[in-house]
Amino acid sequence: MLERFRKDFPVLENNPGLTYLDSAASTQKPAVVLEKTDRFYRFDYANIHRGIYRLSERATASYEAARKRIAEFIGAAAPESIVYTRNATESLNLIAATMGEQAVQKGDEIVVTVMEHHANFVPWQQLAAKKGAILKVVGLDRETLELDMTALESAVTGKTRFICCTMASNVLGTTPDMAEVTKLAKKSGALTVFDAAQFVPHHKLDISTFDPDFLVLSGHKMLALDGFGILYGKPEHLAAMPPYMTGGDMIENVTIKKTTYAEPPQKFEAGTPFMGGAVSLHAAIDYLENIGFDRIQAHETRLAKLADEKFRALGKVKLYRKPDRIHNGILPFNVEGVHPHDVATILGDMDICVRAGHHCAQPLIRFMDEMAMVRASFYIYNTEEDVDRLIAGVKKTLEVFHK
Ligand SMILES: Cc1ncc(COP(=O)(O)O)c(C=O)c1O
Repeated sequence: MLERFRKDFPVLENNPGLTYLDSAASTQKPAVVLEKTDRFYRFDYANIHRGIYRLSERATASYEAARKRIAEFIGAAAPESIVYTRNATESLNLIAATMGEQAVQKGDEIVVTVMEHHANFVPWQQLAAKKGAILKVVGLDRETLELDMTALESAVTGKTRFICCTMASNVLGTTPDMAEVTKLAKKSGALTVFDAAQFVPHHKLDISTFDPDFLVLSGHKMLALDGFGILYGKPEHLAAMPPYMTGGDMIENVTIKKTTYAEPPQKFEAGTPFMGGAVSLHAAIDYLENIGFDRIQAHETRLAKLADEKFRALGKVKLYRKPDRIHNGILPFNVEGVHPHDVATILGDMDICVRAGHHCAQPLIRFMDEMAMVRASFYIYNTEEDVDRLIAGVKKTLEVFHK
């Protein structure tokens, strides 16, 4: 049982009646992450890399220790393959604007899945439009709501330059088989871009098992501070890519005529970065690994399945995933005859935090023949009481709308 972990999270402790079921949007932060970040600013803060004094050296050491820890955490051989960004969105835009610009020409193809978050959809759609390339969108198996691997196989051709695929859908929790996707990409010579934003908070990730070309994640979805994200890129790609932004900290030499760039990852980290973000992600990884991903998954899946079971017993609730396919703590639903925003409003009034809408995944919502959905997302700090409160909230919604 992980129920005792709720006390590690100050926001939950400071809001006693709160049921927080919006972790797929942003997780709460444990005290240890806040304390370690606070400590960094109180004891070790100065601008990194450039200072030739002990304080700056300590700040740099913390910043770079985080990079090493993040590389270990995802199974990347070299810390230099970890680029710091603001979030998963920036990481994905960076790839599209640099490697995408270089690799995609007129008539080429980019393959995405219909369940991508807009962050891994729109940059590729825009790149395809700019280059005169073709964007192919692979659907899901309508019965299982898993990625349609047969459709993916036929979409990938010798002209495919990128396969861009989420590792966990933020709406359905669906987790495609990464190794299979990579195998297809390697056969066709395409590069892979994996969006791990919803995967890493729940799983031990070892990229050496599927060898992606690129992978992205967001710190704020895994207990770290917001405004800090990661781009993993194979060293040979990062070396070949042009910079995304230019300016301070990313140069080797600047003359009036010409600028040469630093080696990766610095080449992609222009300007003063979010040092506290790096420190916070380091602390968050320590905290998560200390609990263990098997326990995290078992706990959140148990709660999401319990809610699913109770919704089924209640009736008038449309559930999209079969119980055995509920993953990553994500439970999408709709209440018959009630707009998702009305459901979320009534729940919100009861201090039950869920999200309603298109979840930045409009192609998927349309594929599901819906206008919007409610999403409850469970994480380590949720309890059975949270499930009961959610069910009570939906019961109340039914009473209000089905009088
Ligand atoms: C699957 C997925 N990818 C990417 C993102 C974008 O993350 P961020 O807003 O941190 O850039 C999200 C955010 O919800 C997401 O769920």
